[in-house]
Amino acid sequence: MNLTIIGTGYVGLVTGTCFAEAGHKVICVDKDADKVKLLQGGGMPIYEPGLEELVQKNVRAGRLQFTSSTQEGVEKSEVVFIAVPTPPMPDGGVDLSFIEGVSREIAGAMNSYKIIVDKSTVPVKTGEKVAETIKRYCKAKVDFDVVSNPEFLREGFAVDDFMKPDRVVIGVLSQRPVPAMKEIYAPYQAPIIVTDINSAELIKHAANSFLALKISYINAVSVLCELSGANVQEVAQGMGMDARIGRKFLDASLGFGGSCFPKDLSAFIRISESMGYDFGLLKEVQKINAEQMNRFVKKISDTLWVIKGKTLGVLGLAFKQNTDDVRMSPAIDLCQRLQKEGARLRVYDPQAMEKAKAILSDVTYVADMNDVAEGCDALVIATEWPQFKKLDLDKVRKNLAHPIIFDGRNLFDVGEMERLGFLYKSIGRGKA
Ligand code: UDX
Repeated sequence: MNLTIIGTGYVGLVTGTCFAEAGHKVICVDKDADKVKLLQGGGMPIYEPGLEELVQKNVRAGRLQFTSSTQEGVEKSEVVFIAVPTPPMPDGGVDLSFIEGVSREIAGAMNSYKIIVDKSTVPVKTGEKVAETIKRYCKAKVDFDVVSNPEFLREGFAVDDFMKPDRVVIGVLSQRPVPAMKEIYAPYQAPIIVTDINSAELIKHAANSFLALKISYINAVSVLCELSGANVQEVAQGMGMDARIGRKFLDASLGFGGSCFPKDLSAFIRISESMGYDFGLLKEVQKINAEQMNRFVKKISDTLWVIKGKTLGVLGLAFKQNTDDVRMSPAIDLCQRLQKEGARLRVYDPQAMEKAKAILSDVTYVADMNDVAEGCDALVIATEWPQFKKLDLDKVRKNLAHPIIFDGRNLFDVGEMERLGFLYKSIGRGKA
């Protein structure tokens, strides 16, 4: 099918590329002309495993092209996906001005029947507003349908998630666009759930908030583990073997971050409030997440006594593994708190150092993970990059002034680290 995707951020670029890979003919539109030029020239604005190769392959095959003209994209496709940012507002609500602006642009460019599909994460009832807006601004006498089709991609695994989705959610105001939507997703052999548009929009916020809740739950349990001398990984395994619970998203950590969970949680709380419901459970999820970081910083300061004047090595700056994304990264938050306490930092991340440089200054960026500990008083692990498990621990121990490691991601075995001579403090494994 001929498809247009408006917005080439993480969601739009992955969506467009993976649609092209499945055989559709795709136009990706972005108003940022520099980004379009970069993509046309084979460059990549983001790091996402496997994406670059797929973009190049599909551009060569003539199935994927980039333009800054919404007009061109809308005219040439029957189905137009909206994948633009929906940033948070200071009160936790959602700024829908990009969605509204793109809806008007699409309306102005419509030359025949179109299906307009929202992929961005939006508050319930946004689809109805998009439909109203398009009706209001469309000059041509043409029909259209609005569909909600939320994305569930994890950064770092986005291509895989897109190709093998757990489910595809299609929310509609009428049945007319359903066959086309099913045809678009036919190559992926995923279960498709067709529902009303408000339910589809709620599914996205409800799912992400539930996943964040799962992380806060295990983080709260990790506190009890430290108080009682239990091991949170054993507890998570025992809980997770109950098929009703599942082991995924039960990894205790220094807290969740990223461009989705914190924003979606705040938005869901605000959306609920605006409809007259106080979703107190989710406020507690936020509170536990904030406390988890406080507790980790306290663990560092309790152990080192005074942070001021100490040099600390930090492994990981991205908000999680396999990405260069540092937006709302707990690792960056941690670095800034340690700096505020007066620490000097030597930092390393396999992919995120360039992006970190824009928001984290006065630190030493180190090129090799095994050199970070050089001259440091302690080493801190802040992101769950799998390569950190292969750290040269002998070298690290020799490099550190004192063999102290604070692990915010539970990457190593406690007994093994103690045998190697480290004072090793992690999350929820034995007394804090
Ligand atoms: C999330 C959702 O998973 C995805 O479905 C949605 O579409 C977008 O938001 P993403 O933000 O890319 O994806 O990352 P995810 O893998 O979900 O991790 C989010 C945060 O939670 C990270 O900071 C991660 O380190 C943390 N996390 C995750 C934990 O602390 N413990 C866990 O067990 C899992």
